[in-house]
Amino acid sequence: MDFALTIDSTSELPLQQQLYEELRQAILERRLLAGQKMPATRELARSLGISRTTVVLTYDAMTSEGYLEAATGSGTYVARELPDEFLRSQAPGAGHEKKVEVRRRACTQRLSKFGRYLHDNELVGPAVEPEINFALGRPDNDEFPIRQWTQLLNKHCKSRRFSELELPKKSQGYLPLRQAIADYLARARDVNVEAERIIIVNGSQQAVDLVTRVLVEHGDHVGLENPCWFGAQTIFEAQGAKIYPVSVDANGLNVEELRGKRVPDLKLVYVTPSHQFPTGVVMSLPRRLELLDWAEKTDTYVIEDDYDSEYRYEGRPIPALSGLDKSESVIYIGTFSKTLFVSLRLGYLIVPPHLVQTFAHAKWMTDRHSPLLEQQVLADFIAEGHFERHIRRMRNIYEQRRRFAIESLTRHFGDRFKVSGDNAGIHMLVKFQTKLSDDEIVRRAQKEGVLILRTSRIPEEDTAEFIICYGSLPEAKIELGVSKLSSAIGRRS
Ligand SMILES: Cc1ncc(COP(=O)(O)O)c(C=O)c1O
Repeated sequence: MDFALTIDSTSELPLQQQLYEELRQAILERRLLAGQKMPATRELARSLGISRTTVVLTYDAMTSEGYLEAATGSGTYVARELPDEFLRSQAPGAGHEKKVEVRRRACTQRLSKFGRYLHDNELVGPAVEPEINFALGRPDNDEFPIRQWTQLLNKHCKSRRFSELELPKKSQGYLPLRQAIADYLARARDVNVEAERIIIVNGSQQAVDLVTRVLVEHGDHVGLENPCWFGAQTIFEAQGAKIYPVSVDANGLNVEELRGKRVPDLKLVYVTPSHQFPTGVVMSLPRRLELLDWAEKTDTYVIEDDYDSEYRYEGRPIPALSGLDKSESVIYIGTFSKTLFVSLRLGYLIVPPHLVQTFAHAKWMTDRHSPLLEQQVLADFIAEGHFERHIRRMRNIYEQRRRFAIESLTRHFGDRFKVSGDNAGIHMLVKFQTKLSDDEIVRRAQKEGVLILRTSRIPEEDTAEFIICYGSLPEAKIELGVSKLSSAIGRRS
């Protein structure tokens, strides 16, 4: 070689890596030419003052990556076609942009209906992070017992076995976690279910997605609470379902509206009975029984999204629909996004026995399996009691925040607002007395640095109702947010 390689024996970088980088650079910069013979390993080691093994290992690595080629008996050569060449893009010629644009337009016409829906409906989030985010339906991450969680995480990392790198045999999820969930649900939700019926998924979002794929055909009708959780509505719509909105009163979903000649044949009805999203109404027991009776008589599935049932601040919890279901009509969705932290992306489905195999297969087809490590940690977290301890502690914190938020609204708005729903959850629905349009309220609040969410009504209409999420906000922020809201919309208008 007619150039020098620089190897620094005092560097923290291992010698093999230094030699690799030097040779790779020389090849890419054409100081070593394609097809050129490399020095013999012994000779190169001697000239650099390093061991021959280091040179041999470097040559081996570069050969397996395609930078060098070994010819039996005659030595090692720089490869004629370098792997990096395949990765490098060609410089675009004249008119390229225009051609790409035309092609892009033609190709988007070829998207599926689902793809077209996603293409035409942008994913919108706040352009800049607001000073006060009342739209964040999240738990308070600062209160999460991260020390216990990381201890368990470390334990499982340290005891990792090679066999755990392989795909688990069952797509349904880690059995000890499914068992821990089953035990917890029996204790907390009056739901007695075998672990066999539980399927671990990546949060409620994936649960609704799987439900939709398994049950809903393009053009099918699905019953949705009105107003509803936007997350579920968009999944159903993206998959081509037609939404049949059903109103919600003080007892929950109006089951009466599911009856009658003008009601289309519904594939499923999606409900949030423990704390209707967003009105906060808890579905009464008679209404639950009425819904189950209707579901049984009409052979319709009921999707129960039990997203934040853990936070109920007064009265006895009403058993989940799933626990009352005698006719295998209910598909239950649970999530850890509201109790632990949202980036965990773990939730679960409980499906009737006749659908276990189908949903397990759907999960397999979608992404095989949810990540094992987090499932192992969560299984221990629940089994060792940290989960329920955390919920008990957070229930007090959220109840206090809810009370504080209502006091703060009273201080700033007097009697010109109304909170609907039961004393539960980590958000509430507030109706303001104002003549401003909903869009104008959102805009004015935004100008003050506050993000609030309108409700998802079908059809969309002005209601002056807004979702105020207080769970992740300490009192000082709640107070600041409400006072800013009052500057934005509070004055008599
Ligand atoms: C009604 C409802 N269900 C479920 C979720 C949670 O979704 P995920 O488990 O996908 O985070 C939310 C989040 O805001 C919600 O409002």
